[in-house]
Amino acid sequence: MLSLENAFFEDDVRDFVGRIVRFLRLNDDHIDFSAEPKIDGLSMSLRYEGGELVKAATRGDGFEGEDVTANIRTLKDVPEKLKGRNVPKVCEVRGEVYMTKKAFLKLNERQKAAGETVFANPRNSAAGSLRQKDPSITASRPLGFFAYAWGAMSFVPESTQVDMLHWFEGCGFKINPLTKRCHSISDLLKFYHNIEERRAKLDYDIDGVVYKVDRLAWQERLGFVSDAPRWAIAHKFPAERAMTVLRDIEIQVGRTGSFTPVGKLEPVGVGGVIVQNVTLHNEDYIKGIGNKGEVLREGRDIRIGDTVVIQRAGDVIPQVVDVVLDKRPKTAREFHFPKKCPCPLHTDVVREETATGEEGSRARCTGEFACPYQKIEHLKLFVSRRAFDIDGLGEKQLQYFFDEGWVKEPADIFTLEKRNAKLKLEEVEGYGVTSVRNLFGAIESRRKIALERFIYALGMRHVGETTALALARGYGSWDGFHDACLKVAKGDEEAIADMDALDQIGDTVIKSIADYFGESHNRGIVERLTKEVEIVDAEKPKSNSAVAGKTVVFTGSLEKMTRDEAKATAERLGAKVSGSVSKKTDLVVAGPGAGSKLAEANKHGVKVLTEDEWLKLIGE
Ligand code: IVH
Repeated sequence: MLSLENAFFEDDVRDFVGRIVRFLRLNDDHIDFSAEPKIDGLSMSLRYEGGELVKAATRGDGFEGEDVTANIRTLKDVPEKLKGRNVPKVCEVRGEVYMTKKAFLKLNERQKAAGETVFANPRNSAAGSLRQKDPSITASRPLGFFAYAWGAMSFVPESTQVDMLHWFEGCGFKINPLTKRCHSISDLLKFYHNIEERRAKLDYDIDGVVYKVDRLAWQERLGFVSDAPRWAIAHKFPAERAMTVLRDIEIQVGRTGSFTPVGKLEPVGVGGVIVQNVTLHNEDYIKGIGNKGEVLREGRDIRIGDTVVIQRAGDVIPQVVDVVLDKRPKTAREFHFPKKCPCPLHTDVVREETATGEEGSRARCTGEFACPYQKIEHLKLFVSRRAFDIDGLGEKQLQYFFDEGWVKEPADIFTLEKRNAKLKLEEVEGYGVTSVRNLFGAIESRRKIALERFIYALGMRHVGETTALALARGYGSWDGFHDACLKVAKGDEEAIADMDALDQIGDTVIKSIADYFGESHNRGIVERLTKEVEIVDAEKPKSNSAVAGKTVVFTGSLEKMTRDEAKATAERLGAKVSGSVSKKTDLVVAGPGAGSKLAEANKHGVKVLTEDEWLKLIGE
C-alpha cells in the first residue's frame, strides 16, 4: 500500500501541478483532479475474489499488514459481496476505517465507567477496536469505511478516479460525499478552504485533503517515486499548537551516536493527543540558530522553565515553534550541552562536519561500537518491525537481555535458545515456559529474511528502507552485495562506480557503506550474523519485458517523452537506469545532441538506440 507526498502551502500545490504538466509534456495545465477529504483513520485493503470478501488487511509497513478479516466483516459499510455487474474476478478495494467523533466520545464514556482504557482520539479508538481478538467487540463499536483507492484488479472498470469512486458506490461502498472533480489549481485551493471551514462540523476527523489526477491513463504514465504516486498529493491543514512549560531537557543517544536533545514538557493536549516530549533537534536550535546559521524565533533561546509554543502535525514528532519571553521565570536555566557522552564510557562529543567541511549542528558520541547506547539502539532497530520484526522481543525485553549481557550483538539473538540451558529464561520474572517457547519460535521463524530487510537491519548510517531496497535490487544477492561492500571499503574504483550507478545511491551512502565495512568490528558482527540466518535473494524485476534487468543510460534530448518519464518507464519495466556509461551498460538511448556518453558507448561497444528504436523495443 502506498503513501502520499505532503503539501503544506499553496505553492506546494502549484509545484505539484507544474511537475505533472512537465512530466506529461502537456501544453497547458488543464488537468482534472479528484479532490477528496483526507480521512484521519486507518487505511485498509479489502480483497474480493469472485465478488466475495476474502481478506482484509491493515497497512502495516506498506508491504505486510495485519489480517483483520473477521473484524472487518462486522462493519456495515463493508459489503460481504460486491453488487452490480462487471465485477473483476480479483478486486482490492482500499479506503479508510474511521470512528465518528460522536461514537468516540460515547465509547470513551463507557470505557471510563467500566474502568477500561480511554482512547486519546477517534483514530486510536478505531485502531483499538479493529485489533480486538473477539469480533463481537468490534461489532459493538461503530466503525465506518470510505472507499477511495484500489490495489490489484483483474481489470479496471472505469477510466477516471471520480468514476471509479462512483463505481465503488455501485458495488455497495460508501464514498466520501464531499469529493469533487476540480478543473484547475484555483478549483483545488477553493476546495481546500471550503473543507477547512467545514472541518469542525464534520463528524469524523480529517487532517487535510487529497488531490489525485483524475485520468487513470495519466496516473499510469506518471507512476511512482519510491512508494508515493507522482499523481497524488495530500494538502495538509496547518498543524495544531498549544502552550506549555518545558520542565527539563534530556539527551538521547541514537543508533549512530548522534545526540538529540529532547524537551520534557508539562503534559498538554494538542489536537486530541497528549504531548509530553518534543524534539529540540540540536545545540544550535536551542540557542535560536538554524541549520544554515539563520536566526530562529527572532533569536529567542530555549531555557528550562520556559513557556513554549509547541506544534504537532499528523504523526510527526512535535516541535517547539516559539518561546514566550513574557512568561520566562527568573529561575529559568540555560541548558549546557554535554561535552561528554552520558554513556558509562564518557567519550568526547564532537560536532559533525557538513558536506562542505564546515562544523555542522549535530553532535555525536565518538565511542562508536564501544558505546553501549549505540549498541542497544542498533539492536532495537535490528528487531524492529521493518527489520527482523521479532515478535515478543520489544525494547524492554531487549534492554533486559542487553543489561544481563545475554545479547550483545545481533547474532546473539539467534543463539539464545542454544544457550538457554544455562540462562534459564523461563525463571526470569515476567517469563514463563510458554512465553519463552513463543519467543524462541518467533526468533526461529525469522531466520530466513529478505535481502532488503537484512541490509536495512545492519543499521548503516544513511541506509534507510528505500536505500536498502535499491541496494538489494541492484545486487540481487547477499554475496553480490557483500563482495561489493568489501571492495568499496578498500577504495576499489570500479566497485564504487558500480554502486554509484545504482538508482538512488550517491556519495553519502557510498561513504557510509565504506566506513561501515572498513571497520573490522562491523565485519565481525556481519560475519557472525550471516552464519545464523538465511538471506533470500531480492525479487528479480517482475517484468518480462525486453529490458528487464538491463542497465540503460539516456543521453541527449528526448523528443517524445521527458527524461523523468523515460526513466520511470524503464524502471517500471525492470531496467536499471544509470547516469554514466561503463562497460557494464547494456543500452544507451541517444537523442539529438548526445555527446560524451555516446562516445563512451561507442568506445565500450555498447548498443546505442534512437528514441524511436527504444520505444519500439519496449512496445510503446
Ligand atoms: S489515497 C494513492 N485518498 O492518507 C495513494 N489516501 O498519507 C493511496 N488517506 O495511507 C492513498 N484519506 O490512509 C488516499 N481520500 C484519500 C485518503 C487517504 C485518507 C490516508 C491513507 C494513506 C494516507 C497517506
